[in-house]
Amino acid sequence: MPRVLIVHYSRSGHTARLAQVLADEMRARGCVVDTEAIRVVRDWNRWLLPIPLLPLLPLLPVYLASARFRSVWHSVYFQPEQAIRPLAHADVSAYDLVLLGTPKWLYLSYPVARWLNTVTGLAGRRVAPFATFCGPPLDVFELDMLFGPLADRLRARGATVVDRLGISSDYHPYFFFGEMRAFFRIVSRLAFGRPLADFTLDGAVGKAAVRRFCAALCPDGVATISRAVALPAIERD
Ligand SMILES: Cc1cc2nc3c(=O)[nH]c(=O)nc-3n(C[C@H](O)[C@H](O)[C@H](O)COP(=O)(O)O)c2cc1C
Repeated sequence: MPRVLIVHYSRSGHTARLAQVLADEMRARGCVVDTEAIRVVRDWNRWLLPIPLLPLLPLLPVYLASARFRSVWHSVYFQPEQAIRPLAHADVSAYDLVLLGTPKWLYLSYPVARWLNTVTGLAGRRVAPFATFCGPPLDVFELDMLFGPLADRLRARGATVVDRLGISSDYHPYFFFGEMRAFFRIVSRLAFGRPLADFTLDGAVGKAAVRRFCAALCPDGVATISRAVALPAIERD
């Protein structure tokens, strides 16, 4: 039976919930699943977290408009890391598939960036990243901005990225009265004509995305990840 490691970081619980749902679904499909929650040595103050992300903000219109700029930006931007505690699964080479979960902190979260530079055995592994973010699954601002740099880092470690899953948490810690959440709710109506709730784990689109992701990774129940099912690689910008 395929051996799967589901590893995630979660600061406020939403990515942890998605990791649990994926573990249940993959087990129901016959996979042998181990899980690991990445734990930080010390939580950073929430007002300090965005500071390293600020350089992109004045450039955001160019970033959104130009695929060429995005490609250059992803190769040069500063990705912060945060110290993590020793891992239970520090070597992942025994697994057929690794699911790696992160909240979106503009790009990947700082503890997951550190995990990528800590773990061994990624070379030759099949990896499928998953994430939660507040907004709806906007192609550029949410999906490419997170999964592009994440896939680049995984490939640099020799892993093959086989799929990805992005789910809205409909939650944002900024600023004082849920302003960012209100903003993303409006964006969801404008961009997709649907309430943001539809894209969460409890919404129709979110549930369908989880089912598709698990079915793609474990196609016929007790299947066959090790039989090298041809899954589409993530397209780069
Ligand atoms: C520093 C920081 C940056 C964030 N950037 C984004 C973002 O670019 N887009 C977005 O939709 N949500 C963003 N969020 C919101 C989180 O991605 C969202 O709340 C996520 O579901 C939290 O996951 P967790 O509960 O597992 O920590 C950000 C949150 C933080 C703390």
